[in-house]
Amino acid sequence: MDLFWSLVVNCFLSLCGYLLTVRLIPTFKPMLIKANLYGLDLCKTSKDKIPESAGVICGCVFLVVIFFFIPVPFTQFLTRHGSDFPHYELVELITALLSICCMVLLGFADDVLDLRWRHKLLLPTVATLPLLMVYYVNYDLTTVIVPKPLRPLIGYDIDLGCLYYVYMGMTVVFCTNAINILAGINGLEVGQALILAVSLVVFNFIELSGDCWKAHRFSLFFMIPFIGVCLALLRYNWYPARAFVGDTFCYFAGMTFAVVGILGHFSKTMMLFFLPQIFNFVYSAPQIFLLVPCPRHRIPVFNSKIDKLETSVWSCKKKDSNLLGRIVVKLFHVLRLIRMKEGVGEDGEYIECNNFTLINLVLKFRGPLHEKTLTLHLLGIQVVSSALAFLIRYQLVKLFYD
Ligand code: UD1
Ligand code: MG
Repeated sequence: MDLFWSLVVNCFLSLCGYLLTVRLIPTFKPMLIKANLYGLDLCKTSKDKIPESAGVICGCVFLVVIFFFIPVPFTQFLTRHGSDFPHYELVELITALLSICCMVLLGFADDVLDLRWRHKLLLPTVATLPLLMVYYVNYDLTTVIVPKPLRPLIGYDIDLGCLYYVYMGMTVVFCTNAINILAGINGLEVGQALILAVSLVVFNFIELSGDCWKAHRFSLFFMIPFIGVCLALLRYNWYPARAFVGDTFCYFAGMTFAVVGILGHFSKTMMLFFLPQIFNFVYSAPQIFLLVPCPRHRIPVFNSKIDKLETSVWSCKKKDSNLLGRIVVKLFHVLRLIRMKEGVGEDGEYIECNNFTLINLVLKFRGPLHEKTLTLHLLGIQVVSSALAFLIRYQLVKLFYD
């Protein structure tokens, strides 16, 4: 089947995926609550049980959609059993599914068992091994073109060898965790994933006319069904949320992006679309790596009197804080990235800072905001950064590459 018809079938199956997810989420709601898979909305006064892990429904429907789609791009080869069957393309498709499937499972395990942070970093690395194996067998391209200003020093290209595999492994760990730490207010996790997916679809369509069209076609086959299930989930997760996406969704979404980025050979361009997540990760690093205290939840605090969210804070005794932590706090303070109070607490020995997340940073600059407005601000940043990514990819890049 040619590209056009493959995409038509893919869109049709994605629509079915959307409709199925819309139906399944309310059906599973009582079952999830009965299985203790629920959470309280921390930014509301109501104590209603909201089903957690709706992402598992999303992930399963996505997998089923792709299962039905697998034969479609290969129909012309299925009738004649010749040697021209593109086995490597089929292997790629199946391995991508295997990695995504693994991540749905691990995400669900996280929702049920509340895993520790070191497992959250380790598990995606293991889930990515089949993917790296296929990359090695099919391509083993580990050479990168050096930007023009560095060519007199390094040369035209450089072979990174196994370092390239380490880089790809790290991409997976980053993608799977990046959405999970830019989370906690209604609609944010799915909203950002949706904007990322739409940006990648636009990018893939632009690149379909280029030499690497097969890789971009591969990405489209995954991204369109992903958009379908995300749209359905957003209907329930948008303010006021009737379902939480859970870690399952964050891992599933991250792995889907990582898979298309790696097997579609555009992992570096993909990182451009992740600019808000990269910023949030770097900004969060002192808390994640425990240089300063990291509360269980870093989401903003709900002020019921004004029905708005305010920055959440951490505090610690000044003399108990470690040197590196103090340096980071000073640096962030100078850069105006945090609001810090010294001499707080009964004996005035404590320092207090807002939590280091992009969500709190927006609140620091804009003042208290309604939850929905805050989500829209953050999704707005995501859209602007996608536009910036296209600008860098198609204009600025000319300064650095031929
Ligand atoms: C990550 C963040 C944590 C943040 C949490 C919110 C880091 C290191 N961890 O932890 O700071 O507080 O995500 O998801 O950055 N919830 C809401 N409203 C929402 C979504 C979630 O109130 O729109 C609450 C619910 O109580 C839900 C809980 O967050 O049960 C889910 O938290 P969980 O995904 O388990 O937190 P982590 O991923 O471990
Ligand atoms: Mg989470």
